[in-house]
Amino acid sequence: MCGIIGYAGGKQAAPLLLDGLKMLEYRGYDSSGIAVFDGGEIKMSKAKGRLENLDEITDGGKKLHGVIGIGHTRWATHGEPSDINSHPHVSETGRFAVVHNGIIENYIEIREFLTAKGFTFKSQTDTEVVVQLLEYYHKDDIFETIRKTLNKLKGSYALGILAAFEPNRFFAVRKDSPLVIGLGKNENFIASDIPAVLKYTRTFILPEDKDIIVADGKSVCVYNTNHELVERERLNVDWDVESAQKNGYPHFMLKEIHEQPKAVEQTVASCVKGDKIEFENVKYSAGFVKKLKKLYIIACGSSYHAGMIGKYFIERNCRIPVEIDLASEFRYRRPILDKDTLTVVISQSGETADSIAAMREAKTHGSRVLAIVNVVGSTIAREADDVIITRAGPEMAVATTKGYLTQVLTLQLLGLYLSDKLGLNGESYRTYLEEIKRLPTAVQEVIDNKEQLQILASTYFGNDTAFFIGRGNDYALALEGALKLKEISYIHAESYAAGELKHGTISLIKEGSLVFACLTSDELYDKAQSNAEEVKTRGADVIALVKKGHTAIEKQAKHIIELPALSDEIMPCVAAVCLQLLAYYIAAARGCDIDKPRNLAKSVTVE
Ligand code: AGP
Repeated sequence: MCGIIGYAGGKQAAPLLLDGLKMLEYRGYDSSGIAVFDGGEIKMSKAKGRLENLDEITDGGKKLHGVIGIGHTRWATHGEPSDINSHPHVSETGRFAVVHNGIIENYIEIREFLTAKGFTFKSQTDTEVVVQLLEYYHKDDIFETIRKTLNKLKGSYALGILAAFEPNRFFAVRKDSPLVIGLGKNENFIASDIPAVLKYTRTFILPEDKDIIVADGKSVCVYNTNHELVERERLNVDWDVESAQKNGYPHFMLKEIHEQPKAVEQTVASCVKGDKIEFENVKYSAGFVKKLKKLYIIACGSSYHAGMIGKYFIERNCRIPVEIDLASEFRYRRPILDKDTLTVVISQSGETADSIAAMREAKTHGSRVLAIVNVVGSTIAREADDVIITRAGPEMAVATTKGYLTQVLTLQLLGLYLSDKLGLNGESYRTYLEEIKRLPTAVQEVIDNKEQLQILASTYFGNDTAFFIGRGNDYALALEGALKLKEISYIHAESYAAGELKHGTISLIKEGSLVFACLTSDELYDKAQSNAEEVKTRGADVIALVKKGHTAIEKQAKHIIELPALSDEIMPCVAAVCLQLLAYYIAAARGCDIDKPRNLAKSVTVE
């Protein structure tokens, strides 16, 4: 979704803003723009398409002079991607310029209100009403102007604001959209995301909803809604700059796949203490856990798929019922939960709009909310009652890999933590823990065997459909495998619980259909093998993922991928890596723009 950056300091702002916007590219966008104070005037450049276009028309930012500015990458919601619709937007007299992430829900009403007052609009965006409202309300006090404008807005926003009569500073506000303040040395920033300015600072302030931020090169002041100067939560991040750069890999996705052994190691190190699990910010008593009647897992996309594996693991090992729902469904379902339900919200970004709304809904029912989040200081991390931070480090590719894997692992560790509290820490508890400690090596082994996957990708990349089937955890894996393939390769991929095939889907199978059969569970192997037989009989080419040595499927499978053998419950952690690599190599063979797939955004900050 849209990305915002703002700069005030001693350097030329435009090249720096462009650089920051490059770091926000991963969020997804279709146009971009920057505005700087140049000799007391607001000067602006905008371009449809890739950032290179903006880079080119501004000569890398050199054509815009000034040390204070704002920048934006736009992911179109209202109005097509075009130069006119891209941000910054300026007010009628040119006194204000605004960049915006979020959605102004009542923009039609405001547009009509302002049109009746004689304002004219150039773009089709919801954002333009913000800048025109600033113009409409402005008398002399800028704070008063911003406050009146905010009072009129419904929806979500992170805004960067330049006012021509305030050329030595910029303003910013947020409500339900991500925004951090970066504190540098004689320079200050705002950004939608930490990686945008990680090169310049690791110290951040996290503003609250409707705070007004005023930044110049020397200082940043934050005012609450009563116009009192306030101190907000500070954050020192330990992410390194390299982790937000490609470091020689052709794509972030491939780099992030390769970072998984380390991500797993860091996740384990953060909470496994000998044979105990201790989370830094989760301290449940045995009494609390014993009283739980239900867990409710809520998430979107891949995080939801991770949640499915978590559900199976927790139910099996804790014998507590676990319900799982897509956040976008949960929030309108009138869900049944109360104080004896623990709600687990999973989100890599911590900024997914539906997951935030679902979390808030769960809280209104009295449920305690535990967040599993990768981004420290994100909205979900801040609003949840308890937080477990996954240790994936910054994830830049739209297609999640290390984010997803650390979610799966964290859910397994949570399951072990809860089972220990319940006194269910017997033989399997110890086996799982031992295997989890060996996971970095097992994940590395899958990566080292990538050649077979590259060969398979070069054989099948021309297919225009693919099926993923499995049972139990393998079904959850099939869902993730299909999502990964379709989002980056644009191959139409479908996933099915293998037992469901003959209830309809098998009619799609014909000579040459490509079927990935996930058979990593000993318990369900025979059943899934029969399903593989059903599709093979109808002409499908079956590629089977199995534990090392479990090759009875050779009668049905054209190709077998053998994976390090672990307990059925832990197998998703290695099988997922294999599916990620397959999707990556297939997309690469098709020449796709892997890190920036069409129409997708990294963090989905609108409903
Ligand atoms: C997966 O590759 C996608 N990028 C997407 O499904 C993602 O998992 C989903 O949008 C949820 O995001 P979150 O984890 O940041 O909430």
